[in-house]
Amino acid sequence: MQLFHTIQGLREALGAERLAGRRIGFVPTMGNLHDGHLALLQQARESCHVVVCSIFVNALQFGLNEDWDRYPRTLDADMEKLQSIGCDYLFHPADSEMYPNGLDSQTRVVCPTMTDILCGASRPGHFEGVTTVVTKLLNIVQPDEAVFGLKDYQQLAVIRRMAQDLCMATRIVAAPIHREADGLAMSSRNSYITADERPRAGQLYNTLQWIADQIKQGRRDFSLLEVEGKQQIGSAGFRVDYLAVCNSRNLEAAAVDDQEVTVLGAMYTRNARLIDNLSLTLDTRGKADAE
Ligand code: PAJ
Repeated sequence: MQLFHTIQGLREALGAERLAGRRIGFVPTMGNLHDGHLALLQQARESCHVVVCSIFVNALQFGLNEDWDRYPRTLDADMEKLQSIGCDYLFHPADSEMYPNGLDSQTRVVCPTMTDILCGASRPGHFEGVTTVVTKLLNIVQPDEAVFGLKDYQQLAVIRRMAQDLCMATRIVAAPIHREADGLAMSSRNSYITADERPRAGQLYNTLQWIADQIKQGRRDFSLLEVEGKQQIGSAGFRVDYLAVCNSRNLEAAAVDDQEVTVLGAMYTRNARLIDNLSLTLDTRGKADAE
């Protein structure tokens, strides 16, 4: 695997790959890689000749009181994992390489839909930071495909919309959610969960599944389901940020006759904010298949 810290170095190497007719797959990350990240890279490998990973903890998408400074940075361990699965290129730029003019005067990419609800409501400016850095990374790598995890369902929806609105040439590909044995979605932020909280941390997923089951059994009183689900998470000792049954396509509150529905949730542990989601396809008789 070749490691590049500069845009120019990576561009030259990938330019040669492109000239040789090789299809380039790209997985942007913030590092502290786990099996969920590695599955995205393996998925890229299946349809591309060359696989590129980026590791960049993007300050632009973190709020002032968030965890940018303490976000786990584990480059050596990450590189070992990337080598072991046969990643070809790692791009690991410094902040000054990505934002040479500073953050405040950086040109931004703004997606006006789906960005001020759910995660966007509690993290103002977050998605603007994501769409801006993802645009920069896609311009640097110019991949044929970029793979994003369904774990960050809203992020994927926003990026898809951005790519469509801005006529980006890269194909945006979705990858399934990787979970721990008890259902907890893998995340770099799981390292913030304390030992006493960890046995209860699967509650977010349990509640998403419970809501999905209730919908499968025919319930359509989504607001009440949200209230009941919040009570379950509260009883497990966690504070709920949001719990919402949404239309999978536009993330608006689900309507009773919607066929594609996603239940999304975010909760606070003592030191972390965890997110998860579960999608359902309802058939015409109102029954459903879970994700
Ligand atoms: P990060 O949280 O490192 O995630 C990188 C990619 O891995 C994202 O597409 C995310 O959805 C995916 N991912 C994380 N955990 C996953 C899991 N358990 N199962 C499946 N996929 C998972 O998301 C970001 O970084 C940043 O916002 C980024 C897109 C890199 C822009 O800075």
